[in-house]
Amino acid sequence: MEKIFVFDTTLRDGEQIPGACLNPREKLEIALQLARLQVDAIEAGFPISSPGDFKAVKTIAERVKGPTIVALARAVRKDIETVWDAIKKAERPRIHVFLGTSDIHIQKKFGLDREKALERGLEALKFAKSLCPDVEYSTEDASRTDPDYLVQVVEQVISAGATVVNIPDTVGYAVPEEFGRLIAYLKTRVSNIDKIVLSVHCHNDLGLATANTLVAVENGARQVECTINGLGERAGNASLEEIVMAIKTRKDYFRYCTTVNTPEIMRTSKLVSRLMGIPVQANKAIVGSNAFSHSSGIHQDGILKDRSTYEAIRPEEVGITEHSVVLTARSGRHALKHKISEMGYELQEQEFEILYNQFLSVADKKKRVYDDDVAVIVQDVIFAHLDQSGLYSLASYKITAGNGDTSEARVRLQREEEEVILEASAQGDGPIDAIFKAIDKIVGAYHKLEEFQVKAVTETKEAMGVATVMVSRGSSRALGRGSSTDILKASARAYVQAINRIYRLLQRDSDVSPDKNTVPQPQ
Ligand code: KIV
Ligand code: ZN
Repeated sequence: MEKIFVFDTTLRDGEQIPGACLNPREKLEIALQLARLQVDAIEAGFPISSPGDFKAVKTIAERVKGPTIVALARAVRKDIETVWDAIKKAERPRIHVFLGTSDIHIQKKFGLDREKALERGLEALKFAKSLCPDVEYSTEDASRTDPDYLVQVVEQVISAGATVVNIPDTVGYAVPEEFGRLIAYLKTRVSNIDKIVLSVHCHNDLGLATANTLVAVENGARQVECTINGLGERAGNASLEEIVMAIKTRKDYFRYCTTVNTPEIMRTSKLVSRLMGIPVQANKAIVGSNAFSHSSGIHQDGILKDRSTYEAIRPEEVGITEHSVVLTARSGRHALKHKISEMGYELQEQEFEILYNQFLSVADKKKRVYDDDVAVIVQDVIFAHLDQSGLYSLASYKITAGNGDTSEARVRLQREEEEVILEASAQGDGPIDAIFKAIDKIVGAYHKLEEFQVKAVTETKEAMGVATVMVSRGSSRALGRGSSTDILKASARAYVQAINRIYRLLQRDSDVSPDKNTVPQPQ
């Protein structure tokens, strides 16, 4: 069976979701997991966008072995140089250059004509090729491009040295039959098309991203660009787990294969969801919590007789296992170490000690500590607090509240790397409102609470609560997550994390290089 290359862009397109802002350590952890999932390429970021993203891409390039490490550049010399600086130490580096090809992009974004835009793209491509043998060229907004101009662009970028040419449906406008025809047209009309890997990159604005990707494969595409949980700009990108499992489950129909290690899918999905703070919808195909549960009596009866009656995919194939080992306060270091490596985390010794202490304090309050509890501790206690220099963490809080009374909170925050504790009190309409107001007082800025949710991690009475908040300040929005067996503490932690992220986003925007705004951000 012919192989389809899987290019994961969770850390680039996926990370462009409003409010998502991973720190370099969180990005590395996801990249290591993507390597265990055995994707063929990891798009690690857009290094010109911020020093933090540059650092994350560089660390991934140096540490992650196996997949090709890709980073994105506009057709601008400075972007390409920055990408190369970030990825040159990778085992297999690839520079990804993109430039719009539709008249809408060429005229409205760049104020150019087709010929001049092509010249700019070719110049950028040749420069990238002088640095790196593997160069991918994306014809942004390809699905709204005149097909004959697209043929011309693709043919010329191949002659100039592109190794992969990507055809994006940037605004999620294509419909399957039409997109399939476009790919087939390129396959027959571009004279040198066999010299490269033809790729597609579909967005999900009409809910057609997976369908468009699969139909493109049937018509000759051999690389699929996708993200875990379908995360990405607006309605997201084509979902990796859907594409890979469709190709695997329906191999009788597609007759292709991927080399993705599918039992790692569930773990990857959970890791990405936790670190990004974006919950997976319960009925999401393949990775939703309901995807393999059967509630109707008829279905349950069928499943008990033979699973194949109502299951087209076996849960084990995507890494859903029935029983998971449960830890308790009596579990030692060895058991916890075994558990975290089974869950796919790689911690340094000193990080493990922090985790172990926190684990013991949670285990003291709960009878049993589940995998999801451990994962939440790893994220909140270790990853979320790395790379936060100059930012805040919750030291303590005290609350006075009662039935019908105004609540009053006294909150103490610590600025990372400083000994000083900052303190404030505030009254509010309920304890959470009072806590958030006290935090605002300490940081000296008002934040608008856009969304707020508290959920139990596991289904027991002593469950850890995970709070998720979306907070905005002016035009900046950020997500925050916090966990604890005490939901007020979880909410305070989430609010503080969102504020830290807003600071990082504001810092990132002020770091923008002067030429950054000459071309808008990619989709
Ligand atoms: O959607 C898009 O066109 C992109 C390109 C940068 C590949 O993300
Ligand atoms: Zn995109």
